[in-house]
Amino acid sequence: MTRRARKRVAVLISGRGSNMASLIAAAINPSFPAEIVGVVSNRADARGLEIAGTHGIATKVVSARDYDGREAHDAAIHEALAEMKAEIVCLAGYMRLLTPDFVQKWKGRMINIHPALLPNFRGLDTHARALATGVRIHGCTVHFVTPEMDDGPIIAQAAVPVLIGDTEETLSARVLKMEHRLYPRALKLLAEGRVRMSNGAAVFTNVADESGETAIVSPGERQR
Ligand code: GRF
Repeated sequence: MTRRARKRVAVLISGRGSNMASLIAAAINPSFPAEIVGVVSNRADARGLEIAGTHGIATKVVSARDYDGREAHDAAIHEALAEMKAEIVCLAGYMRLLTPDFVQKWKGRMINIHPALLPNFRGLDTHARALATGVRIHGCTVHFVTPEMDDGPIIAQAAVPVLIGDTEETLSARVLKMEHRLYPRALKLLAEGRVRMSNGAAVFTNVADESGETAIVSPGERQR
């Protein structure tokens, strides 16, 4: 039996890289439909670079400081991704806005994880804002990247409870745990061609939703 080639995935990071690490961990399994072929960071001090290195994954720093303007910076990132022969790009804590031209080049092939249940709490400080708003359910979202920030079609979401007495730290830790479970399964759907972006929507095929492939809902899950 011939197995379909695994999709070549590059991860864009700016910092800690824990979501990147969760993708690397999932892809260690040879039956996972994607392999992580490279990690690109806009910051030389991103902790994730070290983690990727210990897994023998190619890393590259493309610092905005070395380029004249956002277009030139993004063009250099695109070049690095092309060198890695990436077919899919995962943004994992990449803290810079991408230019429309770059987003267009990766249309339908670039996804992001956001630490909130979109369309709520786009942008930064999502956990503090969730606490300030008083929502009782919070979570994370994996979505296709479109030119508007945190606005593309949703692929998968995970929900967690906001507990009385939560702080930004406890809440973000609970969400992060879910991010690490959610991102690999969203990438799997994309790599297998079971989700694609069409006319500004996420279109699913052969997704068994009774098994919860697009959603993790854990309001009762205890904090460990
Ligand atoms: C995560 O919360 C992710 O959702 C957001 O930035 C954070 C990155 O964390 N986009 P890490 O670098 O993956 O640990």
